[in-house]
Amino acid sequence: MARTPAVTALLDRQRRRESTARTYARSFPIVPVRAAGMVIEGADGRKYLDCLSGAGTLALGHNHPVVTEAIRRVLDSGAPLHVLDLGTFEKDAFTTELLETLPPGLAAGCKIHFCGPAGTDAVEAALKLTRIATGRDNVLAFTGAYHGMTAGALAVSSNVDVRATLGPSALEVSRLPYPYAYRCPFGIGGDMGAETGARYVETLLTDSHSGLLPPAAMILEAVQGEGGAIPAPDDWLREMRRLTTEHGIPLVVDEVQTGVGRTGAFWAVEHSGITPDVMVLSKAIGGSLPLAVIVYREELDGWAPGAHTGTFRGNQLAMAAGTATLRQVRADGLAARADEVGARLLRDLRALRERHPCLGDVRGRGLMIGLEVVDPHGEADALGARPPAPDLALEIRRQCLERGLIVELGGRRDTVVRLLPPLIITDEQVEAVLARLADAVGAAERAGLPA
Ligand SMILES: Cc1ncc(COP(=O)(O)O)c(C=O)c1O
Repeated sequence: MARTPAVTALLDRQRRRESTARTYARSFPIVPVRAAGMVIEGADGRKYLDCLSGAGTLALGHNHPVVTEAIRRVLDSGAPLHVLDLGTFEKDAFTTELLETLPPGLAAGCKIHFCGPAGTDAVEAALKLTRIATGRDNVLAFTGAYHGMTAGALAVSSNVDVRATLGPSALEVSRLPYPYAYRCPFGIGGDMGAETGARYVETLLTDSHSGLLPPAAMILEAVQGEGGAIPAPDDWLREMRRLTTEHGIPLVVDEVQTGVGRTGAFWAVEHSGITPDVMVLSKAIGGSLPLAVIVYREELDGWAPGAHTGTFRGNQLAMAAGTATLRQVRADGLAARADEVGARLLRDLRALRERHPCLGDVRGRGLMIGLEVVDPHGEADALGARPPAPDLALEIRRQCLERGLIVELGGRRDTVVRLLPPLIITDEQVEAVLARLADAVGAAERAGLPA
């Protein structure tokens, strides 16, 4: 890819100055200078279709007019931008709009807590809240989970590479199997695999000799994002709700990535109809700016004043941008649009899989889609899944970028090509994404990389 000298120099400086822990900057050597909707323009003049959307943040794409107008309105009003957690009209409007969207069973009797501005801090708050409310320590979390990078959130996350270097965590976590039909932890797959997982959880909770201490909470994603775009079956989620209710365990649903229409419903829990005890929200709720909250059943509200404080819990610009985003997603029926476009993408990508055996599985819900890349020459397991092909996945991502398409990898060994386009993606852009992706997969296969 041709780069201008200024871009090359900037990227060199970045490489020298920034930490080795930087992430997206390694995968995408782009210097973004302008963006609108789904399109990002680099300093070299190249345009890219953005299927990463700020790691699933940009429900309305980049710089949507309702978002930029809301930000301008606050700036022009002279209102203070930093207010700690004081009450303001921006916060009041945001809270009202958010409560309108929540599952009615939760909205009817809930409290909201504004957290430090990242999803990971809201996860910490949820863990702290439930531990205080129950007086218990042990937390139930799932294989494949991702909840953030601070200590507690990382402890309930699953990526062994990230956790292994840190030694034992201060949080006691019991790990449970998340339904993953393609690589079923029980070697069963399908609905039976998920049912077996639910049965195992039930046994742990009812067997007096299971070794499991009474848990403070169960935390889960209704669709795992970083874990590889894995939707949990609705029946399985209902089972988790039944079991947690029967055993008095607060159910925390992390909707940081799945929220605000992404999965084809405003909140992913709506598909199964469950009402969580705690919902963890961030990413899209800030309309592209940092904002994070937890919403929880008011009976859990037993923590003391100052129990989860933080300097940056009053971002007025994010609240205004977030209110505008929540309103627009509702007014324009963008969750339904995500459902429709997602179904079309899944159908066409499954057709693509027929032509490319390196695409082992195509799955997702709404506009949270994953293509699991496998070694087509590797030996299939009993369920037909072939070995992961991380090098081929890397090459597909690179070939996509060559064609002006930004996609990120996730899942086990980073072998899942993830599509997280904004909900405002047009039909023409859907066509372009499919065409570029198909072309990139073919080119990566032809490159003949070892799997
Ligand atoms: C489900 C989920 N929870 C929590 C987080 C952490 O959010 P943040 O990166 O804002 O800390 C993420 C981030 O990707 C996420 O996907």
